[in-house]
Amino acid sequence: MDFKTHVGSASALSTLAADALLVVVAGDRAPAGLDKALASALDAAVTAGDFQYKAGQALYAYRVAGVKAARVMFVHAGDASPKMLRKAVGGAVGAIKSGGAQHLLVAVCGGAEIGAADGESLVLAAEEAVYLYRHTKPSAAAASKLKSVSLVVGKAQQAAVAEGMKCGEAIAAGVTAARELANRPGNHCTPSDLADHAKKLGKTHGLKVEVLDRSDCEKLGMGSFLAVAQGSHEPPKFIVARWNGGAKGDAPIVLVGKGVTFDTGGVSIKLAAEMDEMKFDMGGAASVLGTLRAVAQLKAKVNLIGVIPATENMPDGKAVKPGDVVTSMSGQTIEILNTDAEGRLILCDALTYVQRFKPAAVVDIATLTGACVIALGHHRSGLFSADDKLAAELLAAGEAAIDPAWRMPLDDEYDEPLKSHFADMGNVGGRAGGAITAAMFLKRFTSKLCWAHLDIAGTAWKSGAAKGATGRPVGLLTHFVLARAR
Ligand code: BES
Ligand code: MN
Ligand code: ZN
Repeated sequence: MDFKTHVGSASALSTLAADALLVVVAGDRAPAGLDKALASALDAAVTAGDFQYKAGQALYAYRVAGVKAARVMFVHAGDASPKMLRKAVGGAVGAIKSGGAQHLLVAVCGGAEIGAADGESLVLAAEEAVYLYRHTKPSAAAASKLKSVSLVVGKAQQAAVAEGMKCGEAIAAGVTAARELANRPGNHCTPSDLADHAKKLGKTHGLKVEVLDRSDCEKLGMGSFLAVAQGSHEPPKFIVARWNGGAKGDAPIVLVGKGVTFDTGGVSIKLAAEMDEMKFDMGGAASVLGTLRAVAQLKAKVNLIGVIPATENMPDGKAVKPGDVVTSMSGQTIEILNTDAEGRLILCDALTYVQRFKPAAVVDIATLTGACVIALGHHRSGLFSADDKLAAELLAAGEAAIDPAWRMPLDDEYDEPLKSHFADMGNVGGRAGGAITAAMFLKRFTSKLCWAHLDIAGTAWKSGAAKGATGRPVGLLTHFVLARAR
């Protein structure tokens, strides 16, 4: 889809050519200065009780007298903040995408002046609404006919809004790529498929991509990562993808994504209900690749490295068993009490591996615990970091991207349940505070790093009727990386 700015004013909307016109209304009364034809239609609807000046109200009309655009939509977006604008545009595009409109014009009336964040929001909302999974269902309805979206802006705001749109287009491309990868079934997105995808992304977007195989990982002593992989017939892959946009000596930002392409639980096998959703267990990996794509598209002046330990977690005659003790790359031994707590087992070796980059910061992203879903639900990702500055940056990036996180604690007391009689640590504590003990496990491998952990188990995908990957937290991560670019 093309996104443009159109310099104009709310008072002349009826004269503009478009297939569809979306009037985003803000405030508690008729917006001042709204085009006469549109204002009288809106006024009539209010009088008839069909529209109120309240967030979420929507009115769809066809061939409104005196208005050039055939389709007219009024949507009330509360205060028209970027977040509300995103909801309004998403709803409207969702409603018209399967119709005949090719060009949509959007105007925001009655709120504050729009800026870069609104341009970004509009693009993300529109691209998110038209995405359709077709990889293993090519018969799904053909792609939306919508070709372009223009946002009406004042001359003074045009440059800022256009800049925001450019950023939104890159993030949206990253979000879509992450959704597409995560949506692919386990047999269409194996560790090898993930590695091939990373290599392809490297070619199209100028990334340096290196893929380590099982024997490379053995030489590095990744006993914990390989313990998870040993139960699968799919070979594990350890993917390293670099965007060198910064100066040569600039310490890189490292993103580590959990890449479990299917999590059966292993010998500690999961219940059958909803086990299919464990194809999304590489959502962290997908978000790392999506972020690399966005950052590369924007040619950001920053050094960024994405690291993805990729494997399946399967039960098998060769699979790791509860009680087995393995030696991680760090030299610390781990008693694997529950083979379903595999995410931390692959991440700990990746966190040890990335020390070689002398990173400025390391963020791991993982669909790590069901406990995080219980704690925070599906709105905010769990953020864990002992570094207040890094935590604040990530929280701010989440707010700016409308991809929010919430900080969780890491007190030493939470480390207690990881103690083991047979190894330096167990891989699980009890049920209580499960998202935190998982983070405490990872913390044991990060003493040499400026590190944060994002548990995205509740935010990376949706269940039920809208089942599918969300592409989160590509927005948060891209904002975080861009804010650190020079
Ligand atoms: N991939 C799961 C986490 C998960 C579970 C995400 C449900 C989304 C929904 C992870 O590998 C896992 O199985 N974690 C266990 C840990 C437990 C054994 C300590 C969990 O959360 O049940
Ligand atoms: Mn698991
Ligand atoms: Zn898992």
